[in-house]
Amino acid sequence: RYEGMIFDLDGVLTDTARFHYAAWKRLCEEIGCYFDEIINEKLKGIGRMESLNIILNENDIEISDEGKQFLADRKNLYYKEMISKITPMDLLPGVSELFQRLNELGVKKAVASASRNACTVLERLGIIDYFQYIVDTDRIKNGKPDPEIFLNASKGLGIPPKKCIGVEDSQAGIEAIKKAGMYAIGIGKPDTLYKADLVLRDLRDTDRIISILLP
Ligand code: G6P
Ligand code: MG
Repeated sequence: RYEGMIFDLDGVLTDTARFHYAAWKRLCEEIGCYFDEIINEKLKGIGRMESLNIILNENDIEISDEGKQFLADRKNLYYKEMISKITPMDLLPGVSELFQRLNELGVKKAVASASRNACTVLERLGIIDYFQYIVDTDRIKNGKPDPEIFLNASKGLGIPPKKCIGVEDSQAGIEAIKKAGMYAIGIGKPDTLYKADLVLRDLRDTDRIISILLP
């Protein structure tokens, strides 16, 4: 049986993935950069500055580090404006029920998000106290698809990776979970998340998830 579940935040517990997209889109329109859903897919799970680098690369644009910092800060300003309106109503379907069942079963939970805004979002959603451990992104040297963030979460929970399930909506995240030696649940489309052990549209099918946890 599995003893811990490690959740990504954006796009798994709440639909902030669309806010990240909207914030990048707004920035790109301002600076005359091309940006679409295909580029956006590559940014999921990827840190702010690395995401900006991917966008600039796609557009063959080179700018100074100061310029980059300015643009990354600006994107974050837009993003923060969007998440300031989040309420517990913005939890994705199935999340509350799943957390309740996991609590009853004594399954520990952690958050492994690359976002520096993760705690703000968790607080606004009203779920921050559900977690026994939240990874401090500032302490992670290598972002997803490196397994470091998931290994850190497993250590934080005190549960070996083999006994953990990771949940992710990004390709980079699924890769990180698999490299960490965990069971990977993908949230989204099977064609993009083909490396996952199981792909679900959302966390609504609690019985299915519990049957994997406790076979
Ligand atoms: C998550 C999202 C990414 C985002 C990253 C950094 O991993 O999936 O799209 O770029 O967090 O978020 P931040 O809030 O720190 O800019
Ligand atoms: Mg995500």
